[in-house]
Amino acid sequence: MKWLIMGTSVLAAALQVGCERDVSQPNLEYAPDMYGSVPYDSYAPNPNTRDGKTLMAPAPGSIPRGYSPLRYGPGPEEATRAATDLKNPFESSEPVLERGKVAFNRYCSHCHGSGGLGDGLVAARFPRPPSLLAEHALGLADGQIFHIITQGQGLMPAHGSQVAPEDRWKIVHYLRSMQSPARTARKDTP
Ligand code: HEC
Repeated sequence: MKWLIMGTSVLAAALQVGCERDVSQPNLEYAPDMYGSVPYDSYAPNPNTRDGKTLMAPAPGSIPRGYSPLRYGPGPEEATRAATDLKNPFESSEPVLERGKVAFNRYCSHCHGSGGLGDGLVAARFPRPPSLLAEHALGLADGQIFHIITQGQGLMPAHGSQVAPEDRWKIVHYLRSMQSPARTARKDTP
C-alpha cells in the first residue's frame, strides 16, 4: 500500500513537471529524424542543380503528360485547315452524348441556348449568336467546330483554356445530335 501511494505521487509529480512548459526552450523531441528533412526542401536553394533551385524549371518546350498541343492558330484559314485535318477521336455513344450535353450546358448554353437556337440568357445583352441548327452551322465540319470552340470566332471568345479537348469533341457529337432533326428536314426539302 505504501509503495502504491509513493508510486502515485511520483507519477503525479512527473506529470506536473511535464506540464510546466518553458515555451522559449525547444521541447523534448521524440524520433527527431522525422522532423528534420534530409533531402533539400522543394523551395530551398540547391548548389547541385543548373539554376540553383531544388525544383528546377521544366526544359523549354516541354509539355505536360497527356497534353497534345493544337497546332492551329486563330482565324478562318486555320479553321478551314482544322476542318480537313482533324477527326473526332470519339465514336458517338450514350455516355459521350451525355458528357457532351453536360459540357454544352455548362460552357455554351448561356449564349447559344440549351437547344442551340441562339437564345441563351446572355443573348439579350450580348450580340445574339447564330442558331447552331441553321444552314451555315449544319455545314461546318467537326474539326472546324472543334477549332471554333478552341480559338473562338469573331465575337465568340475562345474556350480552349476552360473546356478540355475531349469535352470539346463530345460537345461536337452532342451538337450533331441536336442538329439531327434540322438535318433530316433539310434532306426532305426538294
Ligand atoms: C459569350 C457567348 C458565347 C459562348 C459562351 C459560346 N459562343 Fe459560340 N458563338 C457566339 C457568337 C456571338 C458567335 C458568332 C461569332 C461570329 O462569327 O461573329 C458564335 C459562333 C459559334 C459557332 C459558329 C456558328 C456559325 O454558323 O458560324 C459555333 C459552332 C459555336 N459558336 C459553338 C459554340 C460552342 C460549342 C460553345 C461552347 C463550348 C460556344 N459556342 C460558346 C457566342 C458564344
